[in-house]
Amino acid sequence: MATDHATLLTEATQHMPMGVLDSYRFWGDESIFVESLQGGGFTASDGRTFVDYRLGYGPIILGYRDARVDSAVINAIQNIGTVCGFSTPMDTEVVRRIKKMCPQVEKMRFANSGTEAVMGAVRVARGFTRRDRILVVEGGFHGLYDEMMWRSDEDGVVPFGGGLPESTRQNVDFIELNDAAGLEHALANGAPVAAVVLEPIMGNSGSISATPDYMRALREACTRHGALLIMDEVKTGFRVAKGGAQQHYGVFADLSTYAKAMGNGYPVAAFGGRAEVMDVISFDAGGVTHGGTYTANLIALSAARATLEILDETDALETVFEVGRKHRELLGRVFTHFGVQHTFAGPDSMFGVHFSETVPLSWRDWKKTDAPLYTAFCKQLIRRGVMLEPDSREPWFFCEAHEQVDLGWLEDMAHQSMAAALDARAVGH
Ligand SMILES: Cc1ncc(COP(=O)(O)O)c(C=O)c1O
Repeated sequence: MATDHATLLTEATQHMPMGVLDSYRFWGDESIFVESLQGGGFTASDGRTFVDYRLGYGPIILGYRDARVDSAVINAIQNIGTVCGFSTPMDTEVVRRIKKMCPQVEKMRFANSGTEAVMGAVRVARGFTRRDRILVVEGGFHGLYDEMMWRSDEDGVVPFGGGLPESTRQNVDFIELNDAAGLEHALANGAPVAAVVLEPIMGNSGSISATPDYMRALREACTRHGALLIMDEVKTGFRVAKGGAQQHYGVFADLSTYAKAMGNGYPVAAFGGRAEVMDVISFDAGGVTHGGTYTANLIALSAARATLEILDETDALETVFEVGRKHRELLGRVFTHFGVQHTFAGPDSMFGVHFSETVPLSWRDWKKTDAPLYTAFCKQLIRRGVMLEPDSREPWFFCEAHEQVDLGWLEDMAHQSMAAALDARAVGH
């Protein structure tokens, strides 16, 4: 029987803070409770169906409940097991595949989430350089651990919330994307830098992207200052190209982090890079420690093996790009029809929509876009069965199964939604 979301949330609030198991799932009375997921969409507990471009914040690259991946995982669970605290022959097989797709990776370790992968990469960078200070490009997101839960705002550097000791920000400084002079200044002044951390295509700022010139300058400056370059490809990895953003730019990091698309929704992550750097992970004096009970468990590994094989050996990614391109064109037609100034940032598999005259080049540029109109547009789309994060910092994510979406229907929904959003604005809502 279909159950109203507000009723489910009221009950859940008695058992969980905010009534949810992850704070970002709290949308007030509109919080979504899912009944079942399939392909490029889902059915909610109240019976509504959605085409989904949020895709769980990006991990779904093939589609929900992809039978090829699911059956590989079930097979591994039934024939090998889940967790054993030992190595398996599958470890090398999966890392070999990643190295083929991302040739800058020479050695690799696994993790259970993007957060953990970033923690591992930063620790390795510090262990290797024997420096503590890191530079982080503002507008990016690198996970929910204390040091990465500071962000640069107009008021200075502020925490994401409570519970974050001031001491956790003392080794982090922020730089602006596409500001080569600011980068040089930060590298040349203050304590020596262990690593610069960035999302080259900011999956957490509407796919606002580094320019190729900036990427080249960044690479050169890091090398010159003895700082490592960490590219956080948790969202872009295996999504924007087989080799991620680094293939896209032809600029390569010392350390890279991956998660999301590498497992089509199974919780798996990894970090890796130059062998000389990764080999600092050791039991030698001063060696870096890495591990964990669930690291490279067989559910994660078998999901990654199956997903990466499909991404590497079929034209699944080409389909994702093509689907994204068609959506971009469709949305462009709708915005143009209503005279809404718009730009798209990032690649077809995960583009951001920005209501602005020019493509934003940094998070500061994003602040000048008409983000409230985008949010109003998304809320109207959600009412009509098109699920998105109603925040223009979250890109539209595409998966292979979106090939099935009825684009005529979607264009109609987009028309109705923009008309309603503009009407509401006209009357001051
Ligand atoms: C670029 C980036 N890095 C790290 C993370 C953290 O990953 P997780 O949520 O798996 O811990 C995210 C999550 O969205 C991300 O987008």
